[in-house]
Amino acid sequence: SQLKDAGLTVFHVVPTLRAALKAVDAGVDGLVVEGSEGGGFKNPSDVSTMVLLPLVASKVEVPVIAAGGFVDGRTMAAALALGAEAIQMGTRMVATVESPIHENWKQAIVDASETDTVLLNRHAAPSLRVLRTDRSNALEFDTSTNAMEHMARHSELYFGGDMDAALALGGAVAGRIESIEPVADVIKNCSNECLEVLRNLGSTYVK
Ligand SMILES: Cc1cc2nc3c(=O)[nH]c(=O)nc-3n(C[C@H](O)[C@H](O)[C@H](O)COP(=O)(O)O)c2cc1C
Repeated sequence: SQLKDAGLTVFHVVPTLRAALKAVDAGVDGLVVEGSEGGGFKNPSDVSTMVLLPLVASKVEVPVIAAGGFVDGRTMAAALALGAEAIQMGTRMVATVESPIHENWKQAIVDASETDTVLLNRHAAPSLRVLRTDRSNALEFDTSTNAMEHMARHSELYFGGDMDAALALGGAVAGRIESIEPVADVIKNCSNECLEVLRNLGSTYVK
């Protein structure tokens, strides 16, 4: 309520229905509902966007932005079908021309397959989904280390391009990203494709 009192519009990121209901009770304007396939910090008990998004959307009245796995118009149309009003893209935006991070990271996203991310730190919150690298591979089954200790040299990763200096946050959708594109193209193609997909679905299935 302090944020609201300051005149801010508040959208809270939630990884579970419980967190969503708590945020709504606290008076948020909307929710970012993010499944565990998304890049970055995560709940240790992971739930995919496909399960979480329609669940939360069916239980709250506030606007919902879907996150985790969104990359194009087809996935955006799916988000709308599952009850969201909008989408948020993380990994896709890292691999854009305008993104200020090092080219090595952008290229690692382009090169990644859909199995090239790891959810680390299930034993020691916060968990985090990161791209598969030598460093993250070594931590995958290591329950004695807090992976956050491996973020100390993050500037050398972000701006120096040393992919093993720290952990490169990234989502499974990296496996669907095939080129580094200008942000305007990502957004324009996404919205055009979304409308095309919705139109085609309508003409195919709604008679
Ligand atoms: C490199 C990177 C940094 C991120 N940093 C933050 C952050 O500081 N705060 C936050 O709420 N989410 C952060 N995220 C999560 C994104 O905002 C977004 O919700 C998430 O990436 C969506 O999943 P996707 O990667 O499948 O698109 C980050 C994601 C990435 C890939």
